[in-house]
Amino acid sequence: MGEMTDLCVTECTRCPALVDSRSRIVNGTGPEDADLLFVGEGPGANEDEQGEPFVGRSGSVLDDGLRDVGLARKDVRITNCVRCRPPENRDPTEEELGNCRGYLEREIDALDPEVIVTLGKVPSEHLLGRSVAVTKEAGDLEEVRIEDAPRRVLLCVHPAATLYDRSQRETFEAALQRAADLAGVADSDGGQTRFDDF
Ligand code: URA
Repeated sequence: MGEMTDLCVTECTRCPALVDSRSRIVNGTGPEDADLLFVGEGPGANEDEQGEPFVGRSGSVLDDGLRDVGLARKDVRITNCVRCRPPENRDPTEEELGNCRGYLEREIDALDPEVIVTLGKVPSEHLLGRSVAVTKEAGDLEEVRIEDAPRRVLLCVHPAATLYDRSQRETFEAALQRAADLAGVADSDGGQTRFDDF
């Protein structure tokens, strides 16, 4: 019912509604040894069309935010909780999240990232396994076991949230700065920060 080679799902028919609504499976992009793994909710119309996560307006916000903290899209890996576009951009159901969970776990396991950054409520709750008030908790770092390995999850608001609310933009930028610091991206003085505060 589903097939994955390397980090790419090549074929899957586990979610009938998503098989109907997708035009393609949207796999994660970026280096397979990236320090940072960004996890969104699921593909929207642009992603479904182009076959790449975060390429629409949210993607521009993410690209700008990464640049502002000294990173580029090519430096990080970006993926989603579900790899097929839900109809009318609705949230993925619990069942759909569960169906796609194994693929995400394999991607996390293969990548072994320093930090997983969850973009929005759905991926935050999915990976932490609890309810999350993401606006309040954005910027928090939490350790969680995924497939028996301890993983650091940094909570972040969804890039789209920043389009309507200036304060969310600051929250978003602060979380990305923390992600860059944790990944040891050189700061403006050329210094490195490595997990000193965790
Ligand atoms: N929003 C998401 O959560 N994921 C995408 O890939 C694009 C927009």
